[in-house]
Order: sequence, then C-alpha cells, then structure tokens
Amino acid sequence: MDNNFQIKTFEEYQQAYQQSVDNPEAFWESIADTFTWRKKWDKTLEWNFEEPSIKWFQGGKLNITENCLDRHLKTRGNKLAIIWEPNDPKERYIRFTYKEVYERVCQFANVLKKNGVQKGDRVCIYMPMIPELAFAVLACARIGAVHSVIFAGFSASAMADRINDAGAKMILTSDGLNRGSKQIPVKRVVDEALEHCPSVEKVIVVERLGWAVNMVEGRDVWYHDEVKDVSKECPAEEMDAEDMLFILYTSGSTGKPKGVVHTCGGYMVSAQYTFSNVFQYQESDIYWCTADVGWVTGHTYLLYGPLLSGATTLMFEGVPTYPDMGRFWQVVDKFGVTIFYTAPTAIRALMAGDIDDVLSYSLDSLKVLGSVGEPINEEAWHWYHTHVGKERCPLVDTWWQTETGGIMISTLAGVTPMKPAHATLPLPGIQPILVNSDGSEITENEVEGHLCIKFPWPGMIRTTYGDHERARLSYFSTYKNLYFTGDGAKRDKDGLYRIIGRVDDVINVSGHRFGTAEIEEAINHNEHVIESAVVGYPHDVKGQGIYAFVICKDIPEREDWLRAEIIETVVEKIGKIAKPDKIQIVSGLPKTRSGKIMRRILRKIAEGDTSNLGDTSTLLDPDVVDEIKEGAL
Ligand code: PRX
Repeated sequence: MDNNFQIKTFEEYQQAYQQSVDNPEAFWESIADTFTWRKKWDKTLEWNFEEPSIKWFQGGKLNITENCLDRHLKTRGNKLAIIWEPNDPKERYIRFTYKEVYERVCQFANVLKKNGVQKGDRVCIYMPMIPELAFAVLACARIGAVHSVIFAGFSASAMADRINDAGAKMILTSDGLNRGSKQIPVKRVVDEALEHCPSVEKVIVVERLGWAVNMVEGRDVWYHDEVKDVSKECPAEEMDAEDMLFILYTSGSTGKPKGVVHTCGGYMVSAQYTFSNVFQYQESDIYWCTADVGWVTGHTYLLYGPLLSGATTLMFEGVPTYPDMGRFWQVVDKFGVTIFYTAPTAIRALMAGDIDDVLSYSLDSLKVLGSVGEPINEEAWHWYHTHVGKERCPLVDTWWQTETGGIMISTLAGVTPMKPAHATLPLPGIQPILVNSDGSEITENEVEGHLCIKFPWPGMIRTTYGDHERARLSYFSTYKNLYFTGDGAKRDKDGLYRIIGRVDDVINVSGHRFGTAEIEEAINHNEHVIESAVVGYPHDVKGQGIYAFVICKDIPEREDWLRAEIIETVVEKIGKIAKPDKIQIVSGLPKTRSGKIMRRILRKIAEGDTSNLGDTSTLLDPDVVDEIKEGAL
C-alpha cells in the first residue's frame, strides 16, 4: 500500500503529531520510505533558519514523475488519472488513464528535448486549463527542467518580468483560451511579452481554439507538428532530492513578485502525505480541485498530490458561473465527484445566486469538502457545509502558502475536529507557534499573534530564485530562528487555529496575493499619476477589495475617465485580476514628517471606520485626512 501513512483516528493523529515533534527525522523518513527512489538518501535533514539552508533527503535520487506515473502503471495503468471537463458543457470531456497520461507526458518530454531543453533549464508555461498544461508540467519534471507556470490571466508585462527573472529558455503556450463566454488570444500576449525577453529561444504552441496566430520563424512551433513522430517513452532524468523542481512567482510586501523555489524530494513527500491525510483520500474517489494550475494549489492539489496518490483528478477549464451558477454542481453530479476543493471567493460568489442553482443537483456523491486560499467567513462556511455538503461532509479549511508547498494547518476530514472559519490543528510534522511582536512565543491559548513555524518540513521553500538574500529577509529575518508566514492568527481555548489574514502589506483578493507596492507601482506608471497608496478593504465576494488613493497631476473634467485610465494601466502592468475596486483621487496622502505613508489611517478610511483614526498629530499635513475622509468611496 503506498499510502499506509494515512491517519484514521484522532488518537492516531495525536500519536503521529507527538512522534513528529519528538523525532521529526524518523517521522518523515517513514513516510519518504514509501516512495520510489533510485537511490535512498544519506542524510534526512540538515538545516538552519539563519542563512537559511534547508536540505531534506540529501543524496537521495529520484524523479517525481516516476512516482506520479511509472509506479502506478502495473496496478493502475487503466485507472483514470485525469478527467478533463471543458469550459463549454456542450463540448465533450476527455478522460486519460494513467497509461495514457504516462505516454502523453513522455511525448511532451521528447518534444521539449527535441527543441533543446536540458536538465536545469527553466521553462515558462503560460497556458489555459487544458490537458496539455498538465502534461507540460510533468514533462518538464520528467527531464529535469524547472517549470515556472505563469497564470494565464497575467498581462504581457507581468509575464515578461517572470520570464526574465527565471531566465527561461522556452515558453509553452496555446493559441487562445476559453474563459466563460470569452475567448482570449493567449499567443498574442506571449508575443508582446517576448519583445522584452532575450533569453527565450523557442515557443511551443498548443492548439486550443484553432485560431490562426502569428508564428515567428525559427522561434515558434506548433505542438501538434512536433509531437507527430516522437516516442511515447522517455526515460526519466535522475534528480537529486534537493534539485529544483519548480519556481512559482508570488507577491510579497515589497518590490516585484518573487520566485519561490521548491525542490524534488521534499515537495513530493509533503504533497502526497498532506493530500492523503487532509482529504482522507480513498482509491475509488473522484477528486476535484477547482484551482488553476497557475497557482500553487493547482500544482500541489490538482496535479502532484493526487497523481502521487494514484487518484483520479478532475481538471476544469471553465469558471463557476458559466453558463450558469450551477456549473460546479452539474460537474460534481456528472462525474460523481467525491472530494471537492475550492476557494471561499467561489463559494461567496455562488451564495449570491439563487439557492435552487445548488438544490437542483443531487450532490450525493460528495464525501469531503475543502476550502483554501483565504479566510472563510462563518456565513460562507455554513452555506457550503449545509447546501453543498448537506451537513454530512466534513469541511476542511486548509491553511498554507505558496512557500509552504503543501497544507500546514487543517482538519483531517472526519478524523480531527472541525470548527467554522478555523483551520484548526497543524498536520503532523508541522510546528506552528504564535509570537508577540518582539518574537517571544505565546504559549497559552485564547490568544492572537503572528504565525510562525519553528521547525522545517520537507515541502518548504528553499530560496527565492536568483536572490537568496530576499528569501532570508522575507521569511527568516523578522523573528530569529523562525519561519514567519506573514499571517496573523488566533488560537482558541482548545488550541485550534483561526487565520485572520496578512499582517504585512500583502492583500488577498479572491484568494490571489498582491503586494500593495506592486499595485502602486503599476498605478504610478499612468502618465497622469504622481503618487498612490493602495490598501485592502473587506469585500463581500472577493474577501478583500483593492482601494487606491491616487494623487494626479491634472484632474480632467471627468474623474471617471481618469479612473478608467488608471485601471487600464493596472490591467496592462499586472492583469485584470489586480484591477482596483475603488479609486479615490486625492490631493495628498497622510505622511509622517519622514515621508512615510500612514497606511493604518488609509486602511481605516477604506474600511469605512473613521471614528477612531488614532493619533494624526505626527502627520506632515493633518488636514489631508479630513479631505480624504470626506471623499471616501
Ligand atoms: O494569508 C494566507 C491566505 O493566503 C496566503 C497564501 O497565499 P498563496 O501563497 O497565494 O497561497 C494560497 C493557497 C495556499 C496565506 O498567507 N490563506 C491561504 N489559505 C488560507 C488563508 N487564510 C485563511 N485561511 C486559509 N485556509
């Protein structure tokens, strides 16, 4: 049995947890032992959080795709690995067995090799949610190329930044994509990005819409031409446990997005262990994670975790609201989905619809529900639990981050306690603590503090690509010898965690992370803008909305025209997902005498709570606060 580490009872959880704290190395060794290694590791763990330097399973040799695919061929060769459901329900779905996925991945890997990709090269993937995206990711892993998936909603400019930071040699993309009722010319966005990306030598284009696209001679090739005569076998490259598996860009509180680096061995062990335990995965399950592969949830819980477990994973091209608000539930019934994992923002969007959009589907197949990406408010939790889960499905609220690689704090479905809006207890192997602002650990319960992790786990971030110092500064320098998550959390009287949200300048919009500085930088690119300050504010559907205070050079007659202009600039620089929800044109910003913007005040105004703005006497120009208050949107 390749998941004999699955915990079945609360007592087993307690024992496993205790063991993982008493002897973390022995704990993770016993899990790592269940995988296929070309060569076992020499040293389980070597670490320090000062540099930081984290090495798991050193000397171990493996290829993650041998664990995702090859090792299942004997027993699960004909089992469904991927079910692909298109955007349009009238288009036919496609199913792939493990054998078929194996062959497709090998073919794709051979196409990459044929086009010059070698072990260690970075390959950027900018593709819609089509099966080839899954094959492309695994194909990179198969030949030891480092994949960097860029969510296909990012703009050309955001894509170019990521490509250049990674020094990517190749881009994998498609002609276009479907998103609800819209079709988007993906290749055109790639072409625009590549005007600024000298490292890229080749572009491989997968046909999705059958559109005629511009193909640059000597650079661009069609996947369907390249795949014609390649073999369905491709030997897996032997990787060191600490070799890079992928880079995934995410936003921090300062500067441009950073490339979070994950490595082969530890990530693999974490991905399967957490998938199997949190969802209590069983062999016959039909599992559906609605995340896009462009985000970490899609990496770990749409692809790697389920495939490592030999599960059937559903990949959905569309959106929850197209062609109607019942689309998710229709898909659940259509394939008999048993485990369903989505984001609170989707739940809140669907809650706003007609209840019959849910009630008209049976949803009988469902056994476990999951939530990820942002705090789930109690109302959404209850709606999801009652109307989707019919009060019989455990609902796991899973807290984790791009940097953690896998789930850190969550209920284990039906095994450990659940509580609305609480991520609850840490998984075995994870040692969270709450600290005060001076870094001292808070040991009692019924408290609130900054959430840190005090011991390494295999799936954790190793570095930020090309800039190790940035990783140290972002995660390991705030509190000595601790990994700092950037989140604030509460611990209730029973020791259950509730994540409150970011305590840094990161905002979480519909489960997507943005640095306020990153959005400000985009806004400031607009020719009319002198300066801006961005804060998050509570938003009914998105969790947090983006509120921008902007100082402009010249204010035209029509402010709405100016606002539209500014939005356009953000869309161009980052993408539609980062569009400000509110833009208030102001004549000044509340700044201290040393020139620092007092965001605390702006946050309060954006939240509509101006009763107590605290001490404003240290401001350079206290009057500006009244003006901003009066003009608040
Ligand atoms: O603030 C936390 C929030 O999302 C952040 C991580 O974002 P990202 O790296 O994009 O990964 C999202 C998917 C794992 C965290 O710092 N977050 C994530 N899950 C939860 C959450 N906040 C509350 N509850 C959660 N379950």
